[in-house]
Amino acid sequence: MTSTLLTGISELWTLDPALDDPARPGGVAKEQVLREAALVIEDGTIAWIGPAAQAPSADHAEDLGGRAVLPGWVDSHSHLVFDGDRAAEFEARMAGRAYQAGGIGVTTEATRAASPQRLTALVRARIAEAVAGGTTTLETKTGYGLTVEHELEAARLVSALVAAGELDEGTFLGAHLVPGEFAGRAEEYVDLVTGEMLAAVAPHVRWIDVFCEEGAFDPAQSERVLRAGAAAGLGLRVHGNQLGRSGGVQLAAELGAASVDHLNHLASADLEALAATASRPTAAGDGPGRLAVDQGPTVATVLPACDLSTRAPLAPARDLLDAGAQIAIGSNCNPGTSYTSAMSFCVATAVLQMHLSLDEALRAATRGGALALRRSDVGHLAVGARADLHVLDAPAAIHLAYRPGMPLTHRVVRAGVPQS
Ligand code: NIG
Repeated sequence: MTSTLLTGISELWTLDPALDDPARPGGVAKEQVLREAALVIEDGTIAWIGPAAQAPSADHAEDLGGRAVLPGWVDSHSHLVFDGDRAAEFEARMAGRAYQAGGIGVTTEATRAASPQRLTALVRARIAEAVAGGTTTLETKTGYGLTVEHELEAARLVSALVAAGELDEGTFLGAHLVPGEFAGRAEEYVDLVTGEMLAAVAPHVRWIDVFCEEGAFDPAQSERVLRAGAAAGLGLRVHGNQLGRSGGVQLAAELGAASVDHLNHLASADLEALAATASRPTAAGDGPGRLAVDQGPTVATVLPACDLSTRAPLAPARDLLDAGAQIAIGSNCNPGTSYTSAMSFCVATAVLQMHLSLDEALRAATRGGALALRRSDVGHLAVGARADLHVLDAPAAIHLAYRPGMPLTHRVVRAGVPQS
């Protein structure tokens, strides 16, 4: 077992959960950011962390030259299994057309036509893009197959990449849209999703998700999907309140979903419902680094790049935090509403446009994502955590928002392994 000592760290954002400041639950305590720091990586995890002057020796040593180091981004919302793009739809939207759920059907057609080999290559290329931008934990969803055969193929693809350590979490999103062949027969499609499709896909994923929205699934249909998923042992996630007050937030909070994502249209009752879940305790899960999927808060996950790309009202991240909700930031990389996996861009947007402070945004994109995925091994840098580092080409993390869009990722380390 070899060890590596990293020094020359001007600012080390540990976000160590043991040092959380209860008075500022969505922020970062000053003890969670070390200056002139060092860390030791051994066997893919953090073995030591502290002031450089006290660093132990190691088999290898490297000076990072006065750079800031953060935990890698934890992107808890993406849809990477697709073929084709929707640039024409995007262009029409920029000319004034509104986003509608129906566009999902266009991608479904292209995805069904792609071979498994082609889809795997496409997903791998998208993962590489995400990692190059500092993402070290990545969830992705099915949802552009919408037949038993194609959803199973997507779930198998995702599960193989999770097993290979290339992805971290897989989600079944058979309830993304009622496909064209079921037009006018939505209940029958929900029967399929909650029956044969779920039975086929459940062994390959940890989560089930539903698009609870006008044009997709109403709250009653969404509830059927979520209850069936829970009965199959899956954790719950919800796309909610993206296009209107869909009822997704209330449903997610009531059913104990781990996350409800989008949140562009919230009333105070929605903020309160999410805040009321914030103190729900988490519990140990079924393996190292995993928390139970059915306990803990319903994390309010905002998707800044999607909001910009659909010209939607920005999700009220500031109000959510002020109300006491737990928040996360995700990329929502998909061909329809957010064709980017650039989490640094999302963090900069959260600061510049959603009025989060840098530490709040940074925490939401690391610890927040980890909580939304019920993971205790990622999203922070403390002894025993996975050695997932995002080394910035900057002396301080504030440069992420101060120099938006600049290539500030110097190096990414995932489970102790530098990613090229
Ligand atoms: O999260 N809202 C639902 N699903 C995706 C959009 C998918 C698409 O339009 O292709 C989202 O924004």
